[in-house]
Amino acid sequence: MFITFEGIEGCGKSTQVRLLAEELRRQGYEVTTTREPGGCPIADKIRAILLDATNTAMTPLTELLLYAAARSQHLHDTVRPALAAGKIVLCDRFTDATVAYQGCGRELDRTLIEQLNGVATGGVTPDLTILMDCPVEIGLGRALARISGTQGAREERFELESLQFHEAVRNGYLALAAGEPKRFAVVNAHRSIPLITGELTTLVTARLTGADRVL
Ligand code: TMP
Repeated sequence: MFITFEGIEGCGKSTQVRLLAEELRRQGYEVTTTREPGGCPIADKIRAILLDATNTAMTPLTELLLYAAARSQHLHDTVRPALAAGKIVLCDRFTDATVAYQGCGRELDRTLIEQLNGVATGGVTPDLTILMDCPVEIGLGRALARISGTQGAREERFELESLQFHEAVRNGYLALAAGEPKRFAVVNAHRSIPLITGELTTLVTARLTGADRVL
């Protein structure tokens, strides 16, 4: 089962990926956690270019192509092998992030994005996508607080975008979820961490055991 996590900056997805993985492993499942951009050595190098706050001259098209390149390598090196081995793959961001950020945020052509997503994934699509939704001011506030406490490589190229950009991304995600209600589960991320982990565990184990299937 391939499960992706999406949401604006600071929505708490990375924490939930880690906690859900721990819970599923406790239940005996084999789980691989990964993220985009990144998730394998070559894609991690592309990530460093994409998120480097000093790369102010990067064009939106270059950005889109780099996400596609990183994704292609990540599928090849990490996602496909794990799925083929029967593992549950929990992936922090995937193709929906490109539609939300490069499509709704940067306003790049939607057809081009969908074509590139198709080429990069070779048709691999998530079985379930969890959209962690929270107001932009809340998410960005958390993300910026995290950055100010971080040392080393500065990965804040997107956090530095305007509030309007992040609103467009959030609305883009909500529109995607509304368009594909079977694949998406929208989770209120403006709550305590244990409450959210509990909800996600129930949701995912119901999918894994088929308990949520309507006969
Ligand atoms: P994160 O690891 O904090 O989620 O950072 C990844 C950043 O990359 C985040 O700002 C969203 C952005 N992103 C895109 O713009 N397009 C994409 O396709 C992906 C996967 C991420």
